[in-house]
Amino acid sequence: MAGKNPFLTAPDAAVADRPFSLVVIDEAGKEVTLAVDPARLPNAEPGLPGSVLSILLAGGVSLEHSCGGVCACSTCHIYVESGASSCNEANDDEADMLDTAPALKSTSRLACQCVPDGSAALRVRIPRWNRNAVKEGH
Ligand code: FES
Repeated sequence: MAGKNPFLTAPDAAVADRPFSLVVIDEAGKEVTLAVDPARLPNAEPGLPGSVLSILLAGGVSLEHSCGGVCACSTCHIYVESGASSCNEANDDEADMLDTAPALKSTSRLACQCVPDGSAALRVRIPRWNRNAVKEGH
């Protein structure tokens, strides 16, 4: 699945307009730092343009995204450890989907819906356990 979810309202999200760093700690605890250049933002699916998911994937960091980044699963669940003020607010659709994610925290976001504007360095963590019903079925 990919594209846009016709049942959801697109969130109000401004893509980054200045360089920033995105640090991600993966499920194994490995830390990767990506230097994000707004002139080279991935502007393609999966996820909203400029989303954390699209940046991570373009930077070679693997993150589950079973629904293709259309806010219809919770496999792209991340914790935003710092820099959350630089990201768009989660809308009701994202909040509803996050409710299905395991190990929910106040810092939880869906990486496909979380769009940083570049005004702060961002640090995110991928939970050790993410729901992926497709993989769990095998
Ligand atoms: S990839 Fe499915 S909600 Fe983000």
